[in-house]
Amino acid sequence: MRIAIIGADGQLGTDLVEQCTREGHEVTSLTYNDIHIEDMDSVRAALTAAKPDAVFNAAAYHNVPKCETEVELAFAVNAKGPLNIARLSEQLGFAFVHYSTDYVFDGRKRAPYVETDAPNPLNIYSTSKLAGEYCALNYSSRGTVIRLSGIYGRIPSLMKGNNFVSIMVKLAAEKPEVRVVTDEILSPTPTTEIAEKSLAILRSGETGLYHLVSEGECSWFEFARTIWDTLELKTPLLETSVKEFASPVKRPFYSVLENAHYNRLPNAQPMTHWKEALVKFLNKNYRSL
Ligand SMILES: NC(=O)c1ccc[n+]([C@@H]2O[C@H](COP(=O)([O-])OP(=O)(O)OC[C@H]3O[C@@H](n4cnc5c(N)ncnc54)[C@H](OP(=O)(O)O)[C@@H]3O)[C@@H](O)[C@H]2O)c1
Repeated sequence: MRIAIIGADGQLGTDLVEQCTREGHEVTSLTYNDIHIEDMDSVRAALTAAKPDAVFNAAAYHNVPKCETEVELAFAVNAKGPLNIARLSEQLGFAFVHYSTDYVFDGRKRAPYVETDAPNPLNIYSTSKLAGEYCALNYSSRGTVIRLSGIYGRIPSLMKGNNFVSIMVKLAAEKPEVRVVTDEILSPTPTTEIAEKSLAILRSGETGLYHLVSEGECSWFEFARTIWDTLELKTPLLETSVKEFASPVKRPFYSVLENAHYNRLPNAQPMTHWKEALVKFLNKNYRSL
């Protein structure tokens, strides 16, 4: 298959390129130098040249605090971007896989969210991502949206310059102690497994909305505790609460997703438990440092 990957040098994009290449697909890697997704002329030029059978869009504007003030840019990249790709997928006939976020939920359910639960985004980032979901699903008859949570990969997020694992390792090296919140619950997920299972969804030929996260759930503190234990970090790790961090941006306190739709696919390999996946990632990428 010919597959174009947008955001190819990002955290998820890098692993999508590797996984597609490993599976023998012909890959076109598109970075911000090659395509600006908010600009239809740019999208048309890049994707017409690539002649893809399928397009993965891993590009996003996802700096959550900045989205509150850069509202036009957030909606341009996160909503108009997928709209442009979806419209072109109708014209050129390619399958379109787009990524979204656990933050489309408000967290009040306090139990894992399934795809049929009603979203209620609390901030501009997640509102723009929810708009992007509808654009991808309703403007492309071959559209798929995959919601993710707490992603981490070998290449830390380009936009943020880090991911939670790289921040924790850095803080442990630089600070006398590190405090992490116990009262925000999520499903941290490695980008390698997201890439692998995204291709399985594409191969299934089924479209629609999917949650795709590691099994189980944890707080950011438990996430950090596992990093400390695995890498045997000596810096004291202390519990704290979100109440101690005044933030102008509202976020859900609980954003665990259940892979309900994915698990119903024929031959679906279940996602790994978050702790097992994290320990494997740390041993592979940080043990030798
Ligand atoms: N990080 C998380 O924990 C998390 C959680 C849930 C969902 N997600 C979603 O997961 C997806 C992947 O995130 P990530 O962490 O892999 O992102 P990332 O590392 O920041 O990569 C994003 C990529 O998009 C490119 N890009 C940004 N604006 C663009 C534009 N207007 N046109 C074309 N390309 C553009 C960036 O290029 P430049 O760097 O050159 O600008 C970069 O290559 C996103 O949809 C995000 O919303 C992330």
